[in-house]
Amino acid sequence: MSTAQFPPGFVWGAATAAYQIEGAVDADGRGESIWDRFSHTPGKTLNGATGDVACDHYHRWAEDLDLMRELGVGAYRFSIAWPRILPTGRGAVNQAGLDFYRRLAEGMLERGITPYATLYHWDLPQALQDAGGWPARATAEAFAEYAGIVGRALGDVVKHWMTINEPWCVSVLSHQIGEHAPGMKDPRLAIAAAHHTLLAHGLGVRELRREAPGCEAGIVLNYTAAFPHSADPADVAAARRFDGFFNRWFTDPVFGMGYPADMVALYGQAGYLPHGLSFVEPGDMETIAEPTDFLGVNYYTRGVFTAGGPGEPWRELQYDTPRTEMGWEIYPQGLYELLLRLHTHYGARKLFVTENGVSYLDGPGPDGAVHDERRVDYMRAHFAACQRAIVAGAPLAGFFYWSLLDNFEWAKGYEQRFGIVHVDYDTQKRTPKDSFRYYQQVIAANGLAE
Ligand code: FCB
Repeated sequence: MSTAQFPPGFVWGAATAAYQIEGAVDADGRGESIWDRFSHTPGKTLNGATGDVACDHYHRWAEDLDLMRELGVGAYRFSIAWPRILPTGRGAVNQAGLDFYRRLAEGMLERGITPYATLYHWDLPQALQDAGGWPARATAEAFAEYAGIVGRALGDVVKHWMTINEPWCVSVLSHQIGEHAPGMKDPRLAIAAAHHTLLAHGLGVRELRREAPGCEAGIVLNYTAAFPHSADPADVAAARRFDGFFNRWFTDPVFGMGYPADMVALYGQAGYLPHGLSFVEPGDMETIAEPTDFLGVNYYTRGVFTAGGPGEPWRELQYDTPRTEMGWEIYPQGLYELLLRLHTHYGARKLFVTENGVSYLDGPGPDGAVHDERRVDYMRAHFAACQRAIVAGAPLAGFFYWSLLDNFEWAKGYEQRFGIVHVDYDTQKRTPKDSFRYYQQVIAANGLAE
């Protein structure tokens, strides 16, 4: 039996985010976040779901860490809820919030699990939204203060930091498409929000380096691999534009290449930049390109594009292929190509897959177990893609499965299940799925049996 082996020291992990699992939204002085406000606004989430209780991880964190010890992961990517630390976004620090994350990080270390903390996974304090949110430059400055406070308080136990999770979602999905909090639908706001999330990242890295010397810091970007439907130049150009909109707009500036000129021109023509790039102040692009230790890569799927009609820069094709519960195509080759592209085109020196996973609704059967073979297949194919990318030269240092637990999947509420641990939301019972057992074997072998 041959195995596809991973390099020694490869980091195997699991990922979650605060608002998706913690619940306890009123506990211990936590302030309101934009996701509390949004999810409590009728019509914004499926079936009116909220994160009020979620997986009750705020109270069950020790049990969840025990599960991870059983799984055998060496690392856990979690996020810190800004409104637990600074209930109104700036100013007074809530010590109880810091204490919670200290207990959590120490609990990981006691179990041999290395903490990887994300500072912003979408739960902006509502008070900062009221003051303008991400379209306002002051939010980036507030983020830098927050990063410094958390770095100073927890830098002795947390050595690995991620600043912002998925600036595309923070900006475009939340301010242009309107599907996520705060639910705006204005591309001009989205472009300003994108700039300020990237700026926040750069300022945050500097604060972390100052307050938590010797730490590792990076950003997490999400990617949808963009493929043309055919070799027709019009299709190729359409895919290239989508790539600019989703991937290059964020990756180029982080790697010091500025905003992509073709997209600046396109957004200008579309009327999205009435004042040009006036929100870019001197020094901003250098701040955004602040050297980091790694890039976090979130990858789930790809899109296939063809030329759009007038005023439509691309059109995504919906063709018949196996899809996940989210409706996403399963395309592991896209992850392989992405990891190599980040290495060869952008010169990334260290990469982590910070999220990859799949939603299927399988629940406990008559035997009480969850037989989620489709998830096992998805995982195996994506692990194999990672392994091949490493062999081909991609500097991939680790992989975090999304997600440890079934959880609050944002606007889709509890109707999606990404976990390798099933959660019964009536009883909060956790049931490791077959995919949990499979991942356990991969981690123990540091490789895949073929
Ligand atoms: C990513 C998010 C994560 C989760 C997965 C499915 O965009 O970062 O919180 O919702 O998608």
